[in-house]
Amino acid sequence: MTESFYFTMEATNGTPQTKAGDWSNYQRVLLPPIRDLHKLEVYEENGGYKALREVLANSDWEPSKVTDEVKASGLKGRGGAGFPTGLKWSFMPPVDPDIPRFLCCNGDESEPGTFKDRQLMEYNPHLIFEGCLIANYAMSIKTCYIYVRGEFADWITHMERELAKAYDKGYVGENIMGTGFSTDIVIHKGAGAYICGEETSLMESLEGKRAYPRIKPPFPAQRGIWGYPTTINNVETLACAPIIINRGGKWYAGIGAETHPGPVLYGISGHVNKPGVYEYPTGMLITDLLEVAGGMRGGKKLKALVPGGCSVPVLRAEMIDGVTMDADSLRTVGSMMGTGGMLFLDEDTDMVSFLRRVTHFYHHESCGQCTPCREGTGWLENLVTRIDEGEGNLRDLDLLLDLCDQMEGRTVCALADAAAWPVRNTINRFRDEFEAKCKPAVFATGGEVEAVVD
Ligand SMILES: Cc1cc2nc3c(=O)[nH]c(=O)nc-3n(C[C@H](O)[C@H](O)[C@H](O)COP(=O)(O)O)c2cc1C
Repeated sequence: MTESFYFTMEATNGTPQTKAGDWSNYQRVLLPPIRDLHKLEVYEENGGYKALREVLANSDWEPSKVTDEVKASGLKGRGGAGFPTGLKWSFMPPVDPDIPRFLCCNGDESEPGTFKDRQLMEYNPHLIFEGCLIANYAMSIKTCYIYVRGEFADWITHMERELAKAYDKGYVGENIMGTGFSTDIVIHKGAGAYICGEETSLMESLEGKRAYPRIKPPFPAQRGIWGYPTTINNVETLACAPIIINRGGKWYAGIGAETHPGPVLYGISGHVNKPGVYEYPTGMLITDLLEVAGGMRGGKKLKALVPGGCSVPVLRAEMIDGVTMDADSLRTVGSMMGTGGMLFLDEDTDMVSFLRRVTHFYHHESCGQCTPCREGTGWLENLVTRIDEGEGNLRDLDLLLDLCDQMEGRTVCALADAAAWPVRNTINRFRDEFEAKCKPAVFATGGEVEAVVD
């Protein structure tokens, strides 16, 4: 029998540390190196469903105590915004037996540069199920939907097979493990659009409607799926719940950065030697994570880093020294942790072409509900394309920044912000490259050339 993966993180006992060197003995808890862990029997052999049994069978674990433990862990959502998870759970209204309530596990994962949830779904689906069940218990929820990106057809089939086994074994469904607690999990195939990952669009999509975001407030805990109280959490966030119950919130809070603790799945991509998903604590030095991913490909120099999925502000190479992967440290250099998807770009990267691809994505994915986003994302792409093709001028740069002003904070959801931030920051931080591709600006009046600015 393999050693229980929940009890192998001795190296991390307690004190927060910040260097990869300090974490050389780090033992993975989200994606431990155990063959066939996705199979129920292997998961059980390795301590699986022990946390669920503990909270359901031990009368000390009142539902509110589970939420308190998650609060004590300091866990912050891994879906991008980093909202404290225990606090979110506590927003659910008092239980009314006549009013249904829902949990939604967000596995839509469609942002370029973000590819960690799919690893969990493939290699450790029961950890996700167990996390959902614990969250359901904590919030007295009877139904959890796992919303999986539609394109992940293989993972959906494979998760459904494993979920059926968990039902057969009595971990899900009626009277779970004879404890009297009943709750269901439903896997729902997503509608194939990035916007479906935004929590309120996701609820619309689940209800069978077009995925247009809803205005908040009311927040999902007040009016969620079909108007009933709902909590929405990312896949990786919920997968932390069994770990927190097994090891205790205090233990979890001691892993990684003090203000943003816990293990994290870093999705490292771009021009590195060993792209992939790496599990380490928060608070790792960016330079150490680059080393973990085998350094820059072909010995090239690093030019830029997008630290948290393509929506977050890009950093110049010289900005990352001493910066760690946690919200506070990244804030000091004007960026964010986002989803932990780290895109390293080498010295040969054309930052204008890079931004062109990013703007194409957001233009393609805007749902079109709000004018600033529907029109703005199109204009961002048009202008960046014009500059990339050598047809733009310096005034286009100001126009782009002005467009960002007109988009940020002016739409129902944050897709417009996510589209504007990379534009604003890539221009501000690599302006020389944009200027080099611009034609001199020509101001014409009545057919006469008045001034040429270069
Ligand atoms: C356009 C857009 C797309 C999003 N896509 C996802 C997604 O695929 N997965 C996800 O967990 N969160 C996504 N989010 C964030 C969710 O709205 C929500 O904040 C998150 O699921 C909450 O989970 P957490 O508190 O566990 O982080 C997206 C947000 C926006 C604005």
